Amino acid sequence: MTTAAEFVAVSRHFGDFTAVDSLDLAIREGALTTLLGPSGCGKTTSLRMLAGYIEPSAGKIMIGGKDHTDAPPEKRDLGMVFQSYALFPHMTVAGNVGFGLKLRKVPRAERARRVAEALELVGLGHLGDRRPKALSGGQQQRVALARAIAIRPRLLLLDEPLSNLDARLRVQMRGEIRRIQAETGLTVVLVTHDQEEALEMSDHMVVMNAGRVMQQGAPDELFPAPANRFVAEFLGYENFLTLPERGLVTVRPELLTVAPGDVGGGETAVSATVRSIAYRGVEVRVALDATTGAGGATTPLVASLRGDALTPEDRAALHPGGRVTVSARPDHLVSLAG
Ligand SMILES: Nc1ncnc2c1ncn2[C@@H]1O[C@H](COP(=O)(O)OP(=O)(O)O)[C@@H](O)[C@H]1O
Ligand SMILES: [Mg+2]
Repeated sequence: MTTAAEFVAVSRHFGDFTAVDSLDLAIREGALTTLLGPSGCGKTTSLRMLAGYIEPSAGKIMIGGKDHTDAPPEKRDLGMVFQSYALFPHMTVAGNVGFGLKLRKVPRAERARRVAEALELVGLGHLGDRRPKALSGGQQQRVALARAIAIRPRLLLLDEPLSNLDARLRVQMRGEIRRIQAETGLTVVLVTHDQEEALEMSDHMVVMNAGRVMQQGAPDELFPAPANRFVAEFLGYENFLTLPERGLVTVRPELLTVAPGDVGGGETAVSATVRSIAYRGVEVRVALDATTGAGGATTPLVASLRGDALTPEDRAALHPGGRVTVSARPDHLVSLAG
């Protein structure tokens, strides 16, 4: 693996508040790396330090193997796209896309070729003469993307680029950005608070909380094995229970089995009372109160069952107040650090 850029023990303080706390992160060349975390966890601050708009309070920013901690943004050769498209309204689409090339004194003919190529790549080859305001939000965001790509940056930085788009377009653009990244071989760093977006788009994802990295890895490594409760909750896990021998564990709702009757405890089986049932087509979601502690303490659990696999006995037990036994295969339980 070649490292395109690297954060080495990078921190950023604002007064006595620590926005980014000793961040170590290697950004792999030609890959899409995502910074994922809730609002305020330090994603934008990290990205802006990489771009050179914010100075780290401590640590080093390496780009292409060289220390760039003190380099101004224009010496870093990066393209950036923000949540707001920030297009120039008085320029045509082609003018917007060619703007950075003009600044870099790329000759006119070469500029025209690269603008056409970038617009083609984002699927707007036919709209170069339009003004931004004549385009939809999604199209404007593609123009911003084309403008960043046209300069052939060493790194493409995307800060929540899809959050202003409606849900359908957002999902479509995930695939589009992935395709563009694959076609160009660009190194991309994407900031998002949307775990689905991160899981779907990333080669490598970094989950952050309160300025610190909670866990990083490929989506298919991270999703089945969250390291702690924060990461698990952020990735959408809902079931958390403390078992006598295992401590805190989580398990995905679709990996729980629910059987009629009250067969009692054990390491991977607990008795429970059905709280509510929601039929969602093939999926049946059952909310349960599991008896987990001495003295009748309960823990809420959610099981996702396949409606077509339920027996008549199962259905009879699945009503509010029904007594059931919830179990999971031991290898489906994920131990958490707390
Ligand atoms: N210029 C600033 N002055 C003071 N606090 C800031 C400044 N920029 C960011 N912060 C604070 O740092 C934290 C991280 O911000 P940010 O990196 O924008 O988070 P994210 O992009 O993950 O939502 C937030 O609590 C934010 O209020
Ligand atoms: Mg942000």
